[in-house]
Amino acid sequence: HPLLEYNTFGIPVLAKYFAEVSSLDELLTVLKSEEAKENPIFLLGGGSNILLTQPVDSLVIYNNIKGIEVVAEDDEFVYVKSGGGEVWHELVLYCVENGWGGLENLSLIPGKVGTSPIQNIGAYGVELKDVFMNLRALNLETLEVEGFEKEACDFGYRSSVFKKEKKGKYFILDVAFKLRKNPELNVSYGAIREELINSAGDNEQHWDIADVSSAVMKIRQSKLPDPAVIGNGGSFFKNPVVSNEQFCKLTQAFADIPSYKVDDFQVKVPAGWLIEKAGWKGYKEGNIGVHEKQALVLVNFGGNNGKAIKNLAEKIQKSVFEKFEIEISPEVNIY
Ligand code: EPU
Repeated sequence: HPLLEYNTFGIPVLAKYFAEVSSLDELLTVLKSEEAKENPIFLLGGGSNILLTQPVDSLVIYNNIKGIEVVAEDDEFVYVKSGGGEVWHELVLYCVENGWGGLENLSLIPGKVGTSPIQNIGAYGVELKDVFMNLRALNLETLEVEGFEKEACDFGYRSSVFKKEKKGKYFILDVAFKLRKNPELNVSYGAIREELINSAGDNEQHWDIADVSSAVMKIRQSKLPDPAVIGNGGSFFKNPVVSNEQFCKLTQAFADIPSYKVDDFQVKVPAGWLIEKAGWKGYKEGNIGVHEKQALVLVNFGGNNGKAIKNLAEKIQKSVFEKFEIEISPEVNIY
């Protein structure tokens, strides 16, 4: 079964078996099949955070469990549950239209709701964990449904328990979010504030979540390639965390190096900046390259280039290390 349409890098490899499931019952039927017993299982959501470097010799299970519903509400909050197969941005738009605040900064992130907790998606000052309530997932070994509250997910920067010890062991059925009826805007991120002043005026009192969502969409569209046009997996690397001591040394050699505070001892350095300074921004090699407007994004202009992109990523890692003595590690999953 071709996977071209199922990964945003646009890598045309084949899967040995492929099943699309739109309910828990269908998922259980697939998992009890002969194919599931005889082959490894490969779970697929929006395919927006994976680089396929080889054919997938497994049973691929594609999450298409739909449905968005309000499960509870009180004076302050509305609790919204979404099927794991819903498109993330469609959930964001639905909540923005209803005036429920919390997801607007995460507008236009590619992928599906079910994979959003795995890497604790984040953008423009908000992370999924800030609005997450709980999720239900099927344990692939026991075939029991298990609930995960926030604590149990062990969320970190682009990470969770589902990327660590529970990797590949759970199929996320649905995710519930705690959203505000009287939204509190998060416009701490400089670029958003600037965009809002331009598009919605300089009176902050007049800004609403729809304005924030539009501002985020505009910024993303100006910097990040649309996967429907140019294959990519968003940020390819994580922003590395370095000690204050190491950062201090770096500023002596590179006075304009940007950083964000992590805690009293460490800062995060934008990998996009490091990669650009190492000379890679806009680099092209055959049908792959480094995006010309955001050096953190590797791009595939078409073709079966998974291995080539992996090699390019390794060259970039090496070159960044040689220049800055900083190790950058992939954010996307490499298969
Ligand atoms: N920068 C450069 N050159 C570049 C790219 C960035 O100098 O080519 C500098 C910028 O000037 C800025 C800093 O790096 O000072 C940060 O850039 P940007 O605001 O574009 O954000 P980022 O750190 O590169 C992170 C997330 C993105 C998220 C944005 C906005 C990670 C790995 N990436 O990128 O998330 O959209 O912040 O919040 O944390 C993703 O995870 O797939 C993703 C796109």
